[in-house]
Amino acid sequence: MRCLLKRQTLLAVLLGLALFLLPSLYPTDASIMTLSALAALNGIRMGTAVSFPALQQDERYRDVLAREFRQLTPENEMKFSRLHPEPERYDFDKADTLVNFADTHGIMVRGHTLVWHSQIPDWVKAARSRDAAIALLRNHIQTVVGHYRGQVMAWDVVNEAIADSGRLRDTVWLRQIGPDYIGMAFRWAHAADPNARLFYNDYGGEGLGRKSEAIYRLVSSLVEKDIPIDGVGLQMHLSLQNAPDASDVATNLQRLGELGLETHITEMDVRLALPASEQDRLAQADLFRTMLSTCIAADSCSNFTTWGFTDRYSWIPHRYKDFGAALLFDRDYQPKMAYAAMLEALDPET
Ligand code: XIL
Repeated sequence: MRCLLKRQTLLAVLLGLALFLLPSLYPTDASIMTLSALAALNGIRMGTAVSFPALQQDERYRDVLAREFRQLTPENEMKFSRLHPEPERYDFDKADTLVNFADTHGIMVRGHTLVWHSQIPDWVKAARSRDAAIALLRNHIQTVVGHYRGQVMAWDVVNEAIADSGRLRDTVWLRQIGPDYIGMAFRWAHAADPNARLFYNDYGGEGLGRKSEAIYRLVSSLVEKDIPIDGVGLQMHLSLQNAPDASDVATNLQRLGELGLETHITEMDVRLALPASEQDRLAQADLFRTMLSTCIAADSCSNFTTWGFTDRYSWIPHRYKDFGAALLFDRDYQPKMAYAAMLEALDPET
């Protein structure tokens, strides 16, 4: 029923209405529709990671962001080391600026991320006992989620807790607290904002295989223990060489949905070897189209987020030498083939 409403009735009614009402004012050509507007007709919220420096200094960045996206994920400003650099000091200024921008433009916020092994300050690593580590993590989660209560729609509560081997990743949290840190984090987050949707987020588990099995087992066990988890974020950082099979992604989204969990694509980008060839850019566009279509077709998948939107500020060239061109807009904010492919996935008539 929900599926029917989401996929067909809603789409038909809204598209019909739009086409009926708009012709006198606008051309009916769907190319004037933004990603977000078309996505909403498909029951999907379209999001992007946001670079704080870019938002501060670049007006074109702000314009495209506000036009195309209805949700943002702070790329770095809500990470532990940024928000809580010293034991007794929180610094919410930059993250607050992002949240205020979102609020002003009717954009929702995905909070990223409460518990991660990376971008944590040294003082965390020096906790003197298990109890001390539990206390500091609880304090962090209560304070941060409490600060943004009602303003952050979903939190990546735990990020990348599983290693590529499928075992729990050897992190400061696992070493100091043990495997229970994961359930604890979800409980504390839920207590601090009972309305925020709480996610486990990871990369490399989008399709089927060892890592996605391990993620599935982990979240199944959380659900079984009545731990307040609402969904799974699949990051989707892809290259043309490592992309998962769309049918495997569909199967994965379905089985996670059958656990009662929502799924979000949280960080998609498709890095290309530079300079990017025409053929690679086509293959990239195809991947964006396919993954978005797969999300649209899955009942569980309600959110599609890319890790930035312009190649001007992508993290890829910093992280992967000689790679880049991973996003939907080029460095001058011109939409790329990948952008057109996303529109096609959202409106097969285009
Ligand atoms: C990345 C940011 O994009 C970079 O600016 C930063 O230097 C490192 O982190 N998975 C995640 C994100 O969950 O937080 C990472 O973001 C990219 C991989």
